[in-house]
Amino acid sequence: MKTFYIETFGCQMNVHDSEKVAGTLLAQGYTQVEEPEQADLVLYNTCSIRDKAEQKVFSRLQQFKREAGKGKVFAVLGCVAQQEGARIFDKAPHVSLVCGSASYTRLPAMLVQLEAGERRVTGLDLDTGETFETPFTRRDNPHRAYVTIMEGCDKSCAYCVVPFTRGRERGRTSQSVMDEARRLAETGYTEIQLLGQNVNSYRDPSPAGWDFAALLARVGEIPGLRRVRFTTSHPRDFVRQIVESIDANPVLANQIHLPVQSGSSRVLERMQRQYSRDEYLERIGWIKAARRDIAISTDLIVGFPGETEADFEETLSLLDRVQYDSIFSFKYSPRPNTAALGLDGQVAEEEKGRRLTIVQEQQRAIQIRRHSELVGRVEEVLVEGYNQATGQWIGRTTQNRILNFTHASGNGHSLLGEYLPVRVTRAGPNSLAGESV
Ligand code: SAH
Ligand code: SF4
Ligand code: F3S
Repeated sequence: MKTFYIETFGCQMNVHDSEKVAGTLLAQGYTQVEEPEQADLVLYNTCSIRDKAEQKVFSRLQQFKREAGKGKVFAVLGCVAQQEGARIFDKAPHVSLVCGSASYTRLPAMLVQLEAGERRVTGLDLDTGETFETPFTRRDNPHRAYVTIMEGCDKSCAYCVVPFTRGRERGRTSQSVMDEARRLAETGYTEIQLLGQNVNSYRDPSPAGWDFAALLARVGEIPGLRRVRFTTSHPRDFVRQIVESIDANPVLANQIHLPVQSGSSRVLERMQRQYSRDEYLERIGWIKAARRDIAISTDLIVGFPGETEADFEETLSLLDRVQYDSIFSFKYSPRPNTAALGLDGQVAEEEKGRRLTIVQEQQRAIQIRRHSELVGRVEEVLVEGYNQATGQWIGRTTQNRILNFTHASGNGHSLLGEYLPVRVTRAGPNSLAGESV
């Protein structure tokens, strides 16, 4: 058993976990392959945030039902693994390994058990006390590196499975975060993205006792780094000092993702979000008052149980008021174990769909208008890719916008990883186009 294939679903936390898992397997002598058919070990790192996400892994497993018994080993990792546990063996009997994110440090030992002939192995303990850090992490992107600063979530939003699938909050020591970030800068990474489900409640477990604002400011001072981002911020724990830090240091990217979920205080209360519409808007006010032009994005749920037409209109008016740079919007999906399952006033699927379309159309118009204001401006981009079909380079601005651009000189010379000034010449709802200057 020496080749593996891994497919990842879900958030950046999962993407980064897969980088750690892949690195761990490579260190164990495995090689990675690009197709599940070629692999001895097939791993799915799963997401359970909405029902659709959860169903993906089962449809993948279904495709390979006949491969069972031919020596191929199937492993389910991540949030569905943690949520469903050994029930996965009933649903998909050809799976041999089920392991949640808090148990990845035990993966090498679990693989030994499988090689020794054990048919079924699980790692589902959430109290492992281990923040999964590994010297083996194999990062997919050569310029931007994810760095975990905390695991788990101590909030209890009524709709959300994450506290069940990732467990209690555990902070990583500031020393360990700083050491990793410095090492990354020394090896050529210029962008770092600090990761946690609720980074604003970060607490350094060591005597240094840094809070998130302190950690962010210090990471931003590491020589060699050009951009530092972080995700996700919870409005309740978001402090003004973060905006001040961004204002004080251009290395901290001028972009904040601040999920609101609903524009109605009544719905926010039912969601147990611990802030009102006005408190949220107060934080938006801090961000907008900054000297730097900070891009703001958010997450929204429509059709939460009990959401009336009037509540929904408050969400629409919030979109108008904030003028987000981008949003992620979702239909409420009932999830196992969550408090919202017990709420009355479930909204019909069709009505959720109607509300989602309205939200997305309204935001699309906002983005078209806002982006058109950027035409003529020169933005610095980090070059992330090249599109053969269009002959354009793909860049990302500090505000986290995609800016596709043409570059006249230096034919054949790769621009990947470079920072270049680009003039915006055209604007669409989701991206910008331009030419390097
Ligand atoms: N920790 C982050 C993100 C969690 S999941 C935060 O607190 O913001 C990412 C997004 O998925 C959430 O912000 C929410 O908008 C959405 N989401 C979570 N549970 C959901 C559910 N049951 N149905 C629909 N969307 C959901
Ligand atoms: Fe889920 Fe809320 Fe925690 Fe975010 S803060 S992960 S939405 S429980
Ligand atoms: Fe999904 Fe788990 Fe992330 S449920 S969104 S992969 S924390």
